[in-house]
Amino acid sequence: MKFNQSNIKKAKKYLDKNYCIGVPSETVYGLAANAYSNIAIKSIYKIKKRPKSNPLIVHYSNIDKLKKDCLINDDFLKLYKKFSPGPITYILSLNKNSKISKNVTNKKNNLAVRFPKHKIFRQLLNKLDYPLAAPSANISKKLSAVQALDVKEDFGNKIKYILDGGKSAIGLESTIIDLRNKPKILRLGGLEVSKIKKILGKKVIISINPRKKVAPGQSTLHYSPGIPLRMNIKRPKKNEAFILLKRNKKTYSNYFYLSKKNDLNEAAKNLYSLLRKIKNKGFKSIAVEKIQNLGIGQTINDRLKRASKF
Ligand code: TXA
Ligand code: MG
Repeated sequence: MKFNQSNIKKAKKYLDKNYCIGVPSETVYGLAANAYSNIAIKSIYKIKKRPKSNPLIVHYSNIDKLKKDCLINDDFLKLYKKFSPGPITYILSLNKNSKISKNVTNKKNNLAVRFPKHKIFRQLLNKLDYPLAAPSANISKKLSAVQALDVKEDFGNKIKYILDGGKSAIGLESTIIDLRNKPKILRLGGLEVSKIKKILGKKVIISINPRKKVAPGQSTLHYSPGIPLRMNIKRPKKNEAFILLKRNKKTYSNYFYLSKKNDLNEAAKNLYSLLRKIKNKGFKSIAVEKIQNLGIGQTINDRLKRASKF
């Protein structure tokens, strides 16, 4: 990992000029730009090939900065105190004086906000006088990037700069919760829903596959490695890549492992980079063994299921 203070300065220089750049986060890498600038936000949509109707998450370093743009409530405060900074995104109402670009929200009056934990991302946010809108740093519908090289692979020279912060520690996107009314989970992610429920002490609605899509992470094909993927497989077909949760004594050239032990968090961290690696090796299809649907395993299965709609 190549990192020093001068890299943060460089990142700031590009952002101040309304360019978008790659930034590291503990969930996945982001394609970041000034959330107050219409021009900067337009360039995110163009480079990512993202439909304009799909709003962006805005990243803040702390709650005081957030209060300038959003209305906060009790449920938010409870979760913020316990889980932020970290892998949770809140949907809140915008306040009247908000400076958020209308392009971020597709002219709606609500905003997705997150407080990232990654040290370098936080240092960068602390140096800026605007928050950063950042979708995952990948071409729409494809696998998210978990290291600087992945971002480079997707965007090449289309972006001016990538702030290298090493490999993302969690490796899956944030959990999204709408807190405007009754708490409603819109996307499973790096923070387990059971932990959220415990802190809120009330019913939490799960709405991750609604008929009317409010978050395109809810659409059926998403997080795709670009080749067919099958789940819950006992034996792979000939020439098919086979992903197993833990390293096995018997090994074959088409067998790949998500973790050294039986560790679902390690598996989550390795999932996207392993899928990329298999695709880049030239395999034409992927089989995945049954993954325990427990804790972060639920998010892994959610992503595999969407990737399997190829
Ligand atoms: O971990 C993450 O959340 C990463 C890092 C970079 O922060 N970001 C990320 O962004 O995953 P993106 O754009 O790839 O996914 C954000 C999801 C999209 O499905 C989008 O539709 C939804 O959040 N979203 C954004 N704003 C929303 C809003 N106001 N209401 C409902 N859904 C929203
Ligand atoms: Mg994404």
